[in-house]
Amino acid sequence: MKVDVLLGLQWGDEGKGKIVDVFTPKYDIIARFQGGPNAGHTLEFEGIKHVLHTIPSGIFRENVLNLVGNGVVIDPIIFKGELDKLAPFNIDFKKRLFISKKAHLILPTHKLIDAASEISKGKNKIGSTLKGIGPTYMDKTGRNGLRVGDIFSPNFKEKYQTLIDKHIGMLSHYEEFNYDLPALEKEWMAGIDVLKSLDAVDSEHFLNKALLAGKKILAEGAQGTMLDIDFGTYPFVTSSNTVTAGTCTGLGIAPNKIGNVIGIFKAYCTRVGSGPFPTELLDEVGESIRQEGREFGSTTGRPRRCGWVDLVQLKYAIMINGVTELSMMKADVLSIFDTIKICTHYEIDGEKISDFPYDVNDLDVKPIYIEMDGWKKDLTALGQYNDAPIELKNYVEYLEKELNVPISLVSVGPDRKQTLLK
Ligand code: GDP
Ligand code: IMO
Ligand code: MG
Repeated sequence: MKVDVLLGLQWGDEGKGKIVDVFTPKYDIIARFQGGPNAGHTLEFEGIKHVLHTIPSGIFRENVLNLVGNGVVIDPIIFKGELDKLAPFNIDFKKRLFISKKAHLILPTHKLIDAASEISKGKNKIGSTLKGIGPTYMDKTGRNGLRVGDIFSPNFKEKYQTLIDKHIGMLSHYEEFNYDLPALEKEWMAGIDVLKSLDAVDSEHFLNKALLAGKKILAEGAQGTMLDIDFGTYPFVTSSNTVTAGTCTGLGIAPNKIGNVIGIFKAYCTRVGSGPFPTELLDEVGESIRQEGREFGSTTGRPRRCGWVDLVQLKYAIMINGVTELSMMKADVLSIFDTIKICTHYEIDGEKISDFPYDVNDLDVKPIYIEMDGWKKDLTALGQYNDAPIELKNYVEYLEKELNVPISLVSVGPDRKQTLLK
C-alpha cells in the first residue's frame, strides 16, 4: 500500500478541507503532516459549516482514524478549543484521533514572539496568522523545542520553564511590547491536560505498520505550494515544507511509499498576507471574485487578495509536487463573468517567461493572458459533470491540456455534495 497525498497548489485556502472530507470514505487513516493552527480547513455538510485548524479533515467520518503527524506544530489552547467545539457531535476522539509524540508544541511565548517580530518588520511584515508558527519551527530546527512526548516526562515543567525564560529574554529586545504571560500560561496548561487525555503515538511506526496491514492512508496538506519554506515566494511564506516531500519528513513515510498526489487549485487564485501575486486584480473584477467567492480568511477573517488562475505558477507547483491528478475548486464563483482570463506566461523586461522566476518579489511581472468565454450559468445544483455547460468543459479541457494532468474533480459549491467527479 502507498500513501496518497492531497495538497494545495496555490497560496493556501484552495478547499483542501472540503475535498479531504469528500475522499475520506475511501481511506482508513487521514494524517496531517505539517503546519499548525495557521491552517483553516472548512467542511460543509448537512447545513453545518466546520472549520478545523489542527484536527485532520477526516474526523467526521466514522471508522476512519485521524493522525496529527510529527511535522505538525500544535497549540494546546487552539487544539482544546477545536475539541470543545466538536463536543455536540459526539465524536469519540480517544478512538479516532492520535497525536505524534514528535509533534512540536507552540508555547504562549512563541505567539508573542511572532507578534513582536511582525510589528518590528513594519511594512515588510509577512502577514503571518500570528499563531506562533515561525518561532516554533525556529525552536525545532534550533533544537530547543518542546514535543508532545515531553508532556509525559517528569521534568516537563523544567523543560518548559527553560524555553519560556529564553523567550522572555528575546521579548525584552522588543521595545514597548507588553503581555500578560500568566493568563496565557493558565489556558495553555489546561490545553496540555486535554492533549494528555488522547493517545500520543510513535506515529512513524503507527503509519508504516498500517501500510503493511493494507490500510489506505491520505496525507492532508496545509497551506499551499507557493507558501513552502523552500519553493514558495520567500520570505513571504510559512515555515514548513508544504509540498509532497513534506509528507516524508512530516510523517516518516519513505519516498517510494508515496502513491497518488492530488493537487487542488481554485478556478481562479487567491492569497492572504503579504508577498508577490502576479495575477492579482486590484480592480472591481478582483472585488467581484472576493464577494462572490466569500474570500475572507477561515482563520483570521482577513480579506483574501484575488486574481485570475496562473499557469506559470501552477505548472511550477505540479512539477515540485509530482501531481498525478487535479481538483478544480470554486468553478461556481466564475459564473458571474462573461469572459474569464487565464495567465499563460509572464512578461519580464520585454521577455516572455514560462518558468516561475527566482526574484518574483523584486521584478515587474506582467501576466500574459488568453481569454475564454464564461458559462454564465448557475453550477451549484449540477448533479454530474456531463451536464456542465460547454464553456466550463472547454475551460477544464484547456487547463488539462496546458497542465498535462487530468482534472478528475470539479467543485461547484462549498457543500460536500456540490462535487462533480469526472
Ligand atoms: P482550505 O484551507 O484549503 O481547506 O480552504 P478554506 O476552507 O480556507 O477556504 C475554502 C473556502 O471555500 C471555504 O469557505 C469553503 O467552504 C469554500 N469552498 C470550497 N469549495 C468551494 C466551491 O467549490 N465553491 C464555493 N463557492 N466555495 C467553496
Ligand atoms: P490553509 O491550510 C492561506 C499565510 C499567512 C502569511 C504566511 C505566513 O488554510 O490553506 P504563518 O502564520 O504561517 O507564519 O503565515 O502564510 N498562511 C496561509 N494562507 N492559507 C493557510 O492555510 C495559511 N497558513 C499561513 O497569511 O501570509
Ligand atoms: Mg484555509
